[in-house]
Amino acid sequence: MNRVNILPEFQIAQDSELPVSEACLRNQQPICDVLTQELPKHSVVLEIGSGTGQHAAFISERMPDITWQPSEMAARIASINAWRLRAGRDNFLPPLVLDVSQDLWPVKQVDAVFSANVVHYVGWPKVRSMMSGIGRVLRIAGLVFLYGPFNYGGKFTSDGNKALDAWLKADIDPEAGIKDFEQIVLAARKEKLRLIKDIAMPANNRLLVLKKYM
Ligand SMILES: C[S@@+](CC[C@H](N)C(=O)[O-])C[C@H]1O[C@@H](n2cnc3c(N)ncnc32)[C@H](O)[C@@H]1O
Repeated sequence: MNRVNILPEFQIAQDSELPVSEACLRNQQPICDVLTQELPKHSVVLEIGSGTGQHAAFISERMPDITWQPSEMAARIASINAWRLRAGRDNFLPPLVLDVSQDLWPVKQVDAVFSANVVHYVGWPKVRSMMSGIGRVLRIAGLVFLYGPFNYGGKFTSDGNKALDAWLKADIDPEAGIKDFEQIVLAARKEKLRLIKDIAMPANNRLLVLKKYM
């Protein structure tokens, strides 16, 4: 029997009984490749919206010098704990309950922030809260990694992204949807986060790398 609280877009892996996101299985290696290149050694990384906890498990194993701090809404903490138990790694910290729309985040200071597929999953007010929260907890010169689909010049970059946007608005939240890259860059700049890289990833996704300046 599965003992973890399962949410709609996650399935149960037959062999493990852990919640599994198929998208994570596809994107975890390409994401890890970029982080391996870009993250300074021994960074403490806050992950926002950790979902199942798969990215935490995968990356903490492949980057043992990195300390990975997952966080999520309360309903998803059980899944992350289950993946953490299976990983059995000291550098995969216990997950924090963190809702980006809250003013107080349970984090003091981190070297980097990573978030996959959260920006399109929530509406603009939450994206702005997320940016200002990141601005508060990230150290000067720290890096932010935002993975997911973005629009350019107000246009979808694929039919798949267009369909995803329609599904999000219909089934998740009418305020959700794929954000314009240009608007994200502007919102980030207000929090002293400057875009330094925009990396093409598989399946019409991007990995935006931002750096906090003084
Ligand atoms: C599409 S899932 C992505 C999960 C995971 N990062 C991944 O790539 O598989 C979006 C995640 O955002 C989280 N989320 C939604 N609203 C949030 C909020 N206000 N604060 C923090 N996380 C939130 C959801 O719980 C969900 O796990």
